[in-house]
This record gives sequence, C-alpha cells and structure tokens, in this order.
Amino acid sequence: IMAVSSSYPPYPPSPTFQPVLERIATEIGQTPGRGRPADYIPALAACDPRRFGMAVAEIDGTVYGVGDWRQPFSTQSITKVFTLALDLAREGDELWEHVGREPSGNPFNSLVQLEYENGIPRNPFINAGALVVTDRLQTRTGDAAGTLLAFLRAESGNAELTFDKEVAASEATHGDRNAALAHFMASYGNIDNPVPVLLEQYFRQCSIEASCADLALATSFLARHGLRADGSRLLTQSQAKQVNAVMLTCGTYDAAGDFAYRVGLPGKSGVGGGIIAVVPGRCTLCVWSPGLDERGNSVAGVAALDRFTTLTGVSVF
Ligand code: DON
Repeated sequence: IMAVSSSYPPYPPSPTFQPVLERIATEIGQTPGRGRPADYIPALAACDPRRFGMAVAEIDGTVYGVGDWRQPFSTQSITKVFTLALDLAREGDELWEHVGREPSGNPFNSLVQLEYENGIPRNPFINAGALVVTDRLQTRTGDAAGTLLAFLRAESGNAELTFDKEVAASEATHGDRNAALAHFMASYGNIDNPVPVLLEQYFRQCSIEASCADLALATSFLARHGLRADGSRLLTQSQAKQVNAVMLTCGTYDAAGDFAYRVGLPGKSGVGGGIIAVVPGRCTLCVWSPGLDERGNSVAGVAALDRFTTLTGVSVF
C-alpha cells in the first residue's frame, strides 16, 4: 500500500482567483453569439446580452470579481435554492413527501409529468416544485418572500437588497402557466395556501434583485456545510450535501447533464441570466450575463463556469 504524501494539496494552490477571473472575462468578451435575454416579460427583455459579471467568494468571506459583478440583476429561479434551504431547515425530511428529487428532463415550466405523478413535482427547482416549496415556507412563516429577502440580506451583508415591483407585477400579468401549475397541484391536495396568495409570494420571490457579489456570499452556507455567515447553523452537514446534490442533478433543468459534464459543480440558473455554483468546503461562484440558450441558461455564464473549473482544476470531480 502506498501512502499518499500529506503535503499533496487537495486543490492546486491558488493564492487568489482574481487573475483567472480576468482571463475568463477577456475570453468571454471575444466570444460572439451569447444567446437572447428572456422575453416573456418586458423588464427582462430590455437587458443587454453583452453584460457580463462574475464573482467568487471564499468561505471566509473574501470576494473576487470581474466585469459587472456588483450590478444588481433579476435573481429569478436562483432563489429556489434559498427557499429550499429555508424550508428544509424548518420541516426536514417531511418536505420530500411533497416534492421529489429526480431530474425532470423537461423544461422548467412544464406541466406534463404532474398528472402522471399525482401532483408531486419531480424536484424543487422546476417551477412546480418551487411552488410547493414556497407554499410550505409560506405556511411556516406567513411571509415566504419576506423571510427569503431577510436571509439574503443577512448572508450577503447587503441591507439594500429588495424586490423589483415592476418585475413582480409583470410576472403576475404573464403568470397563467404558473397559476395552472399551482391550481393543478392544489387539486391533488399538494398546495396548502390559496393559489393567489402563493402566486404573489412566488412572483415577489423571483423579483429579488441582487449582484454576483451578493449571491456568491449568500450561497456560502452551502460551501460551509450548512453554516451561515454569523456562524450559526441553517442546515445539517447532511442537508447541505442534499441541497448541493439536487443542484447538481436538477439545477439547470433539462441541461443538467451537460452542465455537470462541462462545469462539474452544483449550480442553479435563473432566466435573469444569473447562475450560482458551489465548491463544497472551498468557495462559491456567481456569474451573470442575460443572453440565454433555449433551455433558459445563460450562454456566457455556463461558458465562464466551464472555463473556471477547467483553468483552476477546482471542481467536485
Ligand atoms: O416562474 C417563472 O417563469 C420565472 N419567474 C422564473 C423562471 C426561471 O428563472 C426559470 N429559470 N431558468
């Protein structure tokens, strides 16, 4: 049996991530064809697809960034990670009786599996599953979106984070599909609150604006095995592992396999063009660029995370 030298570092030594971020930003800047901003609401369609920002937060709170890394953007489905963690911390495994944890292989807003599977969504990151999680958090807190906002403010250290009322109102105007998902699940007894109450909470949740720096910091509890910024525990080590695992398998919808192959990290995207990613025990990342591919993931965002794990060798594999 050969002993592995104890001097072998777990990752390539990297005194700072700044040079690699700058190299990635230069490469991305020279890459044409960056997808199209989400156009289902006017507030998102107006974003310039050439915007690009990226931040890395070490677990001690040191943040590196490049480009538009301090520019607030619409967090959208990225918030589904935080509502999942907040609800799991409160109710534990009972949650998994109401939402599954298998990749759906379908678009994020698909209705098709719900009828075959008796109103139990495949996972907490497709819209149907996120609606179940927000409903349960609403039952436990009386203000799911407010609880989420307070958590994001505390973890990012940015008390200015807020809802974008225009985005929330636009979502409500174009909310027929989410309303259909919620009503359909309610018919199976899998939604507790009145559907209009749930939808208002969900649209406010999606409308939160935050920057790459804010989101990288807010995600750090998943790299710290469940510990919050103030040292208190939100999730058990095992629950933090579970959330990271579901992000890896379901966080980028029907592109989760390709994202895992290219990036090799748990990640979660939103149609605002942001993606968060976790290196457990090491750091968190957030990248933003509003141009999306046909599955709703940021084209430049996935490319930048792909380059980051390739150039640094930092990944979970
Ligand atoms: O539910 C919706 O349609 C949006 N508010 C959020 C969707 C989203 O970000 C899905 N992500 N890629």
